[in-house]
Amino acid sequence: MNGNDCKFVYVDHMLAEHRRLDQLVRRTMASIPGWEEADAAGWLPRMQAGLQEIRTELAHHFRKEEEGGCLEEAVARCPQLSVDVGHIEAEHRELLASLDDLIGRCRTLGATTAAQAQTLDAEFRAVVHKLRAHEARENRVMQRGFNVSLSDEDAGSDEEAPCGEPWQTLPF
Ligand SMILES: [Fe+2]
Ligand SMILES: [Fe+2]
Repeated sequence: MNGNDCKFVYVDHMLAEHRRLDQLVRRTMASIPGWEEADAAGWLPRMQAGLQEIRTELAHHFRKEEEGGCLEEAVARCPQLSVDVGHIEAEHRELLASLDDLIGRCRTLGATTAAQAQTLDAEFRAVVHKLRAHEARENRVMQRGFNVSLSDEDAGSDEEAPCGEPWQTLPF
């Protein structure tokens, strides 16, 4: 594999994983009832199972990011990114802890009401918001480290200059 193929594999794989995680998140979000469905049966176990699945997949994804070499390789290509990568690794622990808290809250809930559903929904959305900000930061690191141009959706809003070479557009 030449250098270009190699960097496209790193970036493509990370983007694909982020999209897959997003599908899990959306499915779990859809399991939470609105006010008008206050008595919907079985939503709490479904939500808890969804959160647990997200937690398992995220832990696996984070481990691959930290041990699989893609962040390391981005820093090797662009040493200025080391501070961002440090933040990213700290956020991995914070995100898993936030999910653990939420799963624990689901476990200890007794009777389920619409108000509880709305509270859990808001807490879950706050975690998802942090996760999306994290992924946008990660995508920007990949973009700068590997000098590839991502879509606005994947890159987040504050696009920064590439490190060294000119941008290259991903072949997909
Ligand atoms: Fe990450
Ligand atoms: Fe990631």
